[in-house]
Amino acid sequence: MHVVIDDLSKVYRGGIYALQNVNLSIPGGMFGLLGPNGAGKTTLMRILAGILRPTSGTLLVGEHDGNTEKGRSEIKRVLGYLPQDLGMYPDLNAREFLDYIGILKGMDRRKVRQQRVDELLEMVGLRNVARRKLKTFSGGMKRRVGIAQALLNDPRLLIVDEPTAGLDPEERIRFRNLLSELGGERTVLLSTHIVEDIAQTCRNLAILKSGQIIFKGNIAELVQETRGKVWAITTSGEKPEGNFTVVSTLHMGTSIQYRVVGEAAGQAGAIPLDPSLEDCYVWLMREQHSVLSTALIR
Ligand SMILES: Nc1ncnc2c1ncn2[C@@H]1O[C@H](COP(=O)(O)OP(=O)(O)OP(=O)(O)O)[C@@H](O)[C@H]1O
Ligand SMILES: [Mg+2]
Repeated sequence: MHVVIDDLSKVYRGGIYALQNVNLSIPGGMFGLLGPNGAGKTTLMRILAGILRPTSGTLLVGEHDGNTEKGRSEIKRVLGYLPQDLGMYPDLNAREFLDYIGILKGMDRRKVRQQRVDELLEMVGLRNVARRKLKTFSGGMKRRVGIAQALLNDPRLLIVDEPTAGLDPEERIRFRNLLSELGGERTVLLSTHIVEDIAQTCRNLAILKSGQIIFKGNIAELVQETRGKVWAITTSGEKPEGNFTVVSTLHMGTSIQYRVVGEAAGQAGAIPLDPSLEDCYVWLMREQHSVLSTALIR
């Protein structure tokens, strides 16, 4: 399911520009939306989910037009949404909660609904704890209940807002794998501020900062753009200074190796390194107003 966003802006009351002239084409499979706090990720996802109206611009989900009442109700039918702050009923168990959401979504036939709920509990690995109250669930288990409720209507477009925040590394990997599986047969839009989530799951991504897209493309293109900007500088201890950002330090006996992103070509002993996706992100955040990133977003 192809999503096309054209010149979309959102101004909140008080004049806050949460999104500014966003253009984005999201093909099938997993698509990553990366950006720091306050970048506008949730705003964009809420507009896609039809919960929030944009100030201007257009939105197409498949052939459904997000600017018309009819289009929006059609979009709701093909869409699953896991909000950043999904409220749950702490005294319901997982099965009761999903059954209840199913009723709210208009799944009127009890048998069909309960069969779907069981299928989903199995899919997200919660079958054995289906009768436990949600208030006894860990953060990771709650996220899995969240993804299950988003999948009740077997959506062709799945939107998940920061689903891995607060999960431990093992849970995060498990959750990412689940999303990758889901992305095999539908469009999955994943927002995160964790670079690693995107690196492991998405081929295509967009990076949002202060309401503007500062990069869109695939990971290989992003890495290519950052080549020549990542360096190792080894010193006997003193922190190197220059037009760059230190991203990590490695203690090696009597010396320290600094990994830096920026302009370090002239620096004594600087050795070029292959960029990781995290280096790319740091570089883009540094250089967002440069000519290059302006060229990239065309
Ligand atoms: N209801 C609102 N009223 C006014 N301003 C808002 C509202 N919701 C969000 N904003 C502002 O819009 C901007 C974008 O917020 P948004 O929640 O979309 O960012 P985000 O990328 O999802 O951030 P986070 O990573 O913290 O979830 C921020 O400056 C935020 O303060
Ligand atoms: Mg958010």
